[in-house]
Amino acid sequence: MNQTSERNKTRSSPLIDQFDRQISYLRISVTDRCDLRCIYCMSEDIEFVPRSQLLTLEELYRVGKNFVDLGVSKIRITGGEPLTRRNVMQLFEQLGTLQGLKDFTLTTNGTLLKRYAPALKAAGVTRINISLDTLRADRFHAITRKGDIQRTLEGIDAALEADFDRVKINAVILKHHNHDEITDLVRFAQDRGMDISFIEEMPLGYVGDHDRAAVYYSSDQILLDLQKHYELTATTENSGGPARYYRINGSPHRVGFISPHSHNFCDHCNRVRLTAEGRLLLCLGQEHSVDLRRVVRAHPMDDEPLQQAIIDSMQIKPKGHEFDLSTKPIIFRHMNATGG
Ligand code: GTP
Ligand code: 5AD
Ligand code: SF4
Repeated sequence: MNQTSERNKTRSSPLIDQFDRQISYLRISVTDRCDLRCIYCMSEDIEFVPRSQLLTLEELYRVGKNFVDLGVSKIRITGGEPLTRRNVMQLFEQLGTLQGLKDFTLTTNGTLLKRYAPALKAAGVTRINISLDTLRADRFHAITRKGDIQRTLEGIDAALEADFDRVKINAVILKHHNHDEITDLVRFAQDRGMDISFIEEMPLGYVGDHDRAAVYYSSDQILLDLQKHYELTATTENSGGPARYYRINGSPHRVGFISPHSHNFCDHCNRVRLTAEGRLLLCLGQEHSVDLRRVVRAHPMDDEPLQQAIIDSMQIKPKGHEFDLSTKPIIFRHMNATGG
């Protein structure tokens, strides 16, 4: 047993940052590529990272395993669109065997779920979040710049059939694009026994002529819209992510709000992100990072330096984001590089 593992036996988890936040959640982006081009996420002519620069699936597993050894209990696989990465099921299968992993989750646009849902369930994935911003085919095509809604709807059905602990819809609400569909989306989710989270758009990277300030639609406004139709009760439930949840008319289903602008949640941050290139990002809204690819490749047979680099990274985790929709984005990285 190496020194780091020895030390972990006597400390509950060394992953505590300088603001006393315990890091228990790792988001792993397995690719920055996507089969859609959502207007809030990337520009149409975005250039992707050359495949030669990506961590291999074995390296991604190694980093994930070491995070779990250090006390992380929730991993979410993200992208780009994670299911477009070749042989990605191999990574799901390996991570799914980790004893300390209590919550093994995926965020996807759903287009490939029809093919992969049963295998994901068999690999140990517990929950899936699927992005769906509209129920109208023409709008879906416009927001995603190319998508066919039918594939995502079929993917949702496949996920429901595979019987995960929870399937949740994620909807980014944009004024004049889909804000008039909020109640329809809630009904769609409720009818299928799913939760739904509404997300305020975040200013990451330049995304062409899409004006983020002009389309901002706050969570408070969404709540007001919903209260015209539903009785909503605030809950203290937490899925380990940033959403605040409400229950609808006493039903078991929930509506979540992810509100980086109107209700900052950074004080309770419990997560860090690994990009597909092996960059450990300490905050979605800042550039503080550590190059874990260099560490992994410099020490192929010894996990001690990797664990130490992860532990040390806690010291540079920033207090929070400084998103400001009224100015040009200060973070040039696009959402597809981190999977949100
Ligand atoms: P649950 O496990 O279901 O709670 O999921 P989650 O909200 O942690 O993950 P998901 O991938 O579904 O992300 C939903 C939205 O929350 C995306 O728009 C993410 O960018 C956003 N999000 C997740 N974590 C953070 C965070 O730390 N900071 C900010 N600003 N946004 C986040
Ligand atoms: N702001 C907020 N959410 C975003 N997503 C992608 N780009 C943005 C953005 N700029 C969402 C996706 C997906 C989740 C991972 O993040 O729709 O549901
Ligand atoms: Fe954590 Fe940064 Fe997200 Fe805030 S913006 S919740 S600090 S990752």
